[in-house]
Amino acid sequence: MKGVLLCPPDHFDVVDVKNAFMEGHEGKVDRARARAQWDALLATFRGIGLSVETLRPTPACEDMVFTANPTFTGLNTRGKKAAILSRMRHPSRQREVAAHGEWFASHGYDVIESPVQFEGGGDATWHPGRRVVWGGHGQRSVAEAYPFVARVFGVEALTLELATDFYHLDTCFCPLDEKTVLLYAKAFTRAGLTLIRKHFRNVIEASEADARDRFACNAAVSGKHVVIQRGCTALEEKLRKAGFEVHAVDTGEFLKSGGSVYCMKQWLF
Ligand code: ARG
Repeated sequence: MKGVLLCPPDHFDVVDVKNAFMEGHEGKVDRARARAQWDALLATFRGIGLSVETLRPTPACEDMVFTANPTFTGLNTRGKKAAILSRMRHPSRQREVAAHGEWFASHGYDVIESPVQFEGGGDATWHPGRRVVWGGHGQRSVAEAYPFVARVFGVEALTLELATDFYHLDTCFCPLDEKTVLLYAKAFTRAGLTLIRKHFRNVIEASEADARDRFACNAAVSGKHVVIQRGCTALEEKLRKAGFEVHAVDTGEFLKSGGSVYCMKQWLF
């Protein structure tokens, strides 16, 4: 990945409860603080060598700051940039998608619409170093999305059922490199964990507090850099021992909406 696409939190708010983490946070966003946290995140992405592009925010799209969801991006078998346009579950988020379609089409991507419910990079993620995509389903995306993703990119898709509060795969599963994954084990079925262990030799487990309160598994990884919500002290130590450079940031205002570092950017190729 060469860069990231971000969207400024001009209209960011918690107006309803789309996921369990939003409960009790309606109307409680501090927008000035959110903007400062977003600015710092942008600077952190630049600091680790990623180029940063921004999307113009659409009024009344309170979740548009979470740019990971309206598309899933990558390179197809011919090395061409492609973006699958999501079919979001919630009407307020369906309104975000058109702006993403226009942005990616005008930046050299083949844009293909998902024929079924699918929340893009929230549920689909690349296995580092392999032509494999992992796909979460059961809450925001349907399992049928993944044969489609596999066809578009010419890859194998491995699917994981999500049946707990961890509503998107990126809330509980974070591949760090080809052999290592960070995850929150209780978010998966037994079959899911078996599949994961078959493909990753090293599994680093997040504690319940890090996974729930700090969205530790919603970290963004670029090479050896891991950008993660601050406060995951013991986990940070484990990541350093495994050879990663940790960049702790504060996404506290966005945690109120059930999102953190990973979902605040989309990968650009
Ligand atoms: N409030 C947003 C929603 O529920 C948060 C999305 C966070 N994105 C993510 N990929 N986890 O849709």
